[in-house]
Amino acid sequence: MCGIIGYVGESDALPILTDGLKNLEYRGYDSAGIALRDGEGDSLDVYKRAGEIDALREHLPESSGSTTGVGHTRWSTHGEPTDANAHPHADESGEVAVVHNGIIENYDELKSELEERGHQFLSETDTEVVPHLVEEELDDGYDLPDAVERVADRLEGSFALGVVSTDFDGLVAIRQDSPLVVGIGDEANFIASDVTAFIEHTRNVCYPEDGDVVTVTADEVSFRHDGEVVERPVDEVEWEAEAAEKGGYDHYMLKEIHEQPQALRQTISGRLDEMAGDVDLDIDLPEEYVASVEEIQIVACGTSYHAGLYAKRLLEEFADVRVNVEVASEYEFTGGRDPWRTLVFAVTQSGETADTLSAMRAASRAGARTLAVTNTVGSTAAREADHALYIRAGPEIGVAATKTFSSQVATLSMLSVYFGRQRGSLSVDRAQTLLEHIRGLPGAIQQLLDQENAIREIAGEYADGDAFFFVGRYLGTPVALEGALKLKEIAYVHAEGFAAGELKHGPLALVTPETPVLAVLTEGARPDETLNNVKEVESRGAPVVGFSSYERGEKYLDTVVGVPELGLLEPLVANAGMQLFAYYVADGMGRAIDKPRNLAKSVTVE
Ligand code: M6R
Repeated sequence: MCGIIGYVGESDALPILTDGLKNLEYRGYDSAGIALRDGEGDSLDVYKRAGEIDALREHLPESSGSTTGVGHTRWSTHGEPTDANAHPHADESGEVAVVHNGIIENYDELKSELEERGHQFLSETDTEVVPHLVEEELDDGYDLPDAVERVADRLEGSFALGVVSTDFDGLVAIRQDSPLVVGIGDEANFIASDVTAFIEHTRNVCYPEDGDVVTVTADEVSFRHDGEVVERPVDEVEWEAEAAEKGGYDHYMLKEIHEQPQALRQTISGRLDEMAGDVDLDIDLPEEYVASVEEIQIVACGTSYHAGLYAKRLLEEFADVRVNVEVASEYEFTGGRDPWRTLVFAVTQSGETADTLSAMRAASRAGARTLAVTNTVGSTAAREADHALYIRAGPEIGVAATKTFSSQVATLSMLSVYFGRQRGSLSVDRAQTLLEHIRGLPGAIQQLLDQENAIREIAGEYADGDAFFFVGRYLGTPVALEGALKLKEIAYVHAEGFAAGELKHGPLALVTPETPVLAVLTEGARPDETLNNVKEVESRGAPVVGFSSYERGEKYLDTVVGVPELGLLEPLVANAGMQLFAYYVADGMGRAIDKPRNLAKSVTVE
């Protein structure tokens, strides 16, 4: 949801910023821009355009004499994607330029104030108030770090800001509830929304706290909080730059689908103890607390919500605990529950989803303990939650979540073993069986992926359906919802997921010979009952594609994708087949698979 980058160093800032923006493009791609401070500080050159980074590149010089600049790739919130609304935004004098990720909620009021004082606005964005406010502070004699801090104090909402000005040899950044990471290199320092922006240059990173004023020059990065100089720890990013590249695949999504076996190996590495029937998750939840938990609430959005639905069923089955899963934007920690005995899981790949963060904060305010289940080290969710558990899937760039869903479900499956064993509700034998299946996930998903050619053909055969229905029961239901979400998201076709038993209560009216039905028919997805629903749609003429380990039912299916045996994790394996189905339907339609229209990878606004 908008990506920002800033660079100060010894090299030409232009290619570093444009390449960095390209790596951030998954965060938003409806317009892009760059501001460069010339070497002497005489001027700022601002280039910006509606459209993707490649459209901007056409308007950029081949090189610049600048070694300092900021860049932005946009996902519009205030104002259409036009050249004028693209960032960076500048003040009238052209001495200050700002890139921003987030929403400034009180911009209307600030804008009126500034207009009364004679400022002129060129865009419809909320961001444009910032350069004008900074300009006023500079005119009052403050230096850039002080000016940015004073302006940030006046802003309401969420923001990560990168600011350059002619009279400051460097840049200043500040964040409030929006992601910001600082990269510390060798005479080359960075700020960005995400490490992918600068991973080719440095893997040493710091995560500023909300309200930190970050001053970046070519040879130093310093942090100040409430007027005091503070130190922030430097971490090393564990993955390599290549992990965030396409590696020969046409799309990141396809690469990430194929990375699932490897991602899952990382997820489970060193965490399973089959002999003891237990897991080592390195979360410091007190034993007495785990035993006393009465309710687990899972808050999440989109794909992460579906992973939460899968986890609910496993946790209830193994850990003897009530579990409620709520779409984060609908979550309220209402009275009647005992906060001290309620544990809230925030499941979020990015760790930056505003809806999920806000739900997690509400739970925390009410006194509940929180656990972030996330892919992103140093993310806001990881830092704000009482406990963090990483899914370790590696960077995911495609907007459509694929490998992170598998790693989320694998992590949450391990958590259900943890809770089951700690609470005494899961026998060693049953735990061992589940652990064996978790261990088998990489291999089983690989077997599913080996059927790629067949799935590509199936996608071609059914691609022109009027609509697509995905059905499953029990653990198959979240997978049906996830299968439909993938298809909607990247192919822009009408797709819906249902609990198979619900079909007859309404959706069956939509079923025709032109609406393919994709069914999960595996262990853990109540195949006997689901088969009855399959027969109901078939007798209305709908073609059925079964993702199946249920041989008895296969004669009723038009097309079968075989799912290897893996107990309660078979529906998760089937999901990889649905990902490939969605991918090939979308690819056949020529869709922008990694950057679907209107979407962004990390949704940092509510
Ligand atoms: O980063 P998060 O897991 O919190 O993101 C939640 C959703 O925005 C995300 O899963 C979204 O639904 C995906 N684009 C789905 O593929």
